[in-house]
Amino acid sequence: MKIVSVVGARPQFVKLAPIHHAALAAGVEHVIVHTGQHYDPLLSDVFFEELGIGAPDFHLGVGSGSHGKQTGAMLAALDDVFAETTPDWVLVYGDTNSTVAAALSAVKMHIPVAHLEAGLRSFNRRMPEEHNRVMTDHAADLLLAPTKVAVDHLASEGLAERTVLVGDVMTDVLYQVRDTLTGTVPALVSELSLQTGEYYVATIHRAENTDDPEQLAAVVAGLAGLDRPVVLLAHPRVVAKAAEHGIALNQGSLVVHEPLAYRDLIAAALTSAGIVTDSGGLQKEAFLLRVPCTTVRTETEWVETIELGWNVLARTAEEIADAVRRPAPAETDDAPYGDGAAAARVISELTQTSR
Ligand code: UD1
Repeated sequence: MKIVSVVGARPQFVKLAPIHHAALAAGVEHVIVHTGQHYDPLLSDVFFEELGIGAPDFHLGVGSGSHGKQTGAMLAALDDVFAETTPDWVLVYGDTNSTVAAALSAVKMHIPVAHLEAGLRSFNRRMPEEHNRVMTDHAADLLLAPTKVAVDHLASEGLAERTVLVGDVMTDVLYQVRDTLTGTVPALVSELSLQTGEYYVATIHRAENTDDPEQLAAVVAGLAGLDRPVVLLAHPRVVAKAAEHGIALNQGSLVVHEPLAYRDLIAAALTSAGIVTDSGGLQKEAFLLRVPCTTVRTETEWVETIELGWNVLARTAEEIADAVRRPAPAETDDAPYGDGAAAARVISELTQTSR
């Protein structure tokens, strides 16, 4: 059994780690292809090293570009990789351009494709991630859904027969790392002389927040006006767009910091007073760590975080301030993202299912 995983962007490296370990434990040959969509060491190499993945077997070096150019370059390169490796399964992750490129290349070469994190929907057709996930789900042979809500979305699109509920693999890695952090003072807290429980962690990188100068200015104003220091773990995209629009990031409560490696991020999140983000992964991590989250978007795919009261949507500076100041959410034992053993289920599905 040979599985070829295709990854390219930061959240995919986190999801890859538990899959890689579960594949090795099951004696499956696991080949890793990095498209090169993310190339900054802080968005890429640190995750491979820290999460014990080792180096990718193939690195396509595609880099940045418009959606079509980036996706097209990946497609062309992946045809050759799949022809050389002849996998039993191609496994694609999440909703990035790397995901849709790999799914499309594999399906056209008649190689079975499995989509991890299938069935998430924002129903916002302006988001590149929404195009990517809808097209990937409809191209794939096996849909590995993280939640019941995702299973229902796939069923309503006529894809129930290809769907299996496995749980969320990010939960696997999060729980493992969280359990090693008890009592540790986060590196970020020491470095910036913060007080535990008295700072916010923020990340902003989505096109809908960074590319429109008015929206980026509103988000920056919202964060800068908060009542505690706000550490903005700045993705290169937000730094580049702020410079282009002439918006100063270091203002008011805002403290700009480079992105963190996974363990440092989870440690910093765990002892924060709250998270403000437009990242899908961090919203869910906040919920799993039981840290209140404010999501700077008009909708979310992780609706369970909202329903359980741990996440609130906000877009304007005022909405962000109100959401961050809201009373603490009610405790909950609900576990909509599974039990932390999703990766083993994924490998078991792939080894048992022939398409
Ligand atoms: C991508 C994914 C998004 C995911 C995010 C995680 C798509 C359509 N989007 O968004 O779903 O949440 O990754 O971070 O696939 N850049 C660098 N260095 C890098 C990578 C990017 O400087 O290593 C800059 C470049 O200016 C680039 C811009 O960031 O043009 C956007 O990068 P891109 O990979 O296209 O999308 P992300 O915004 O990272």
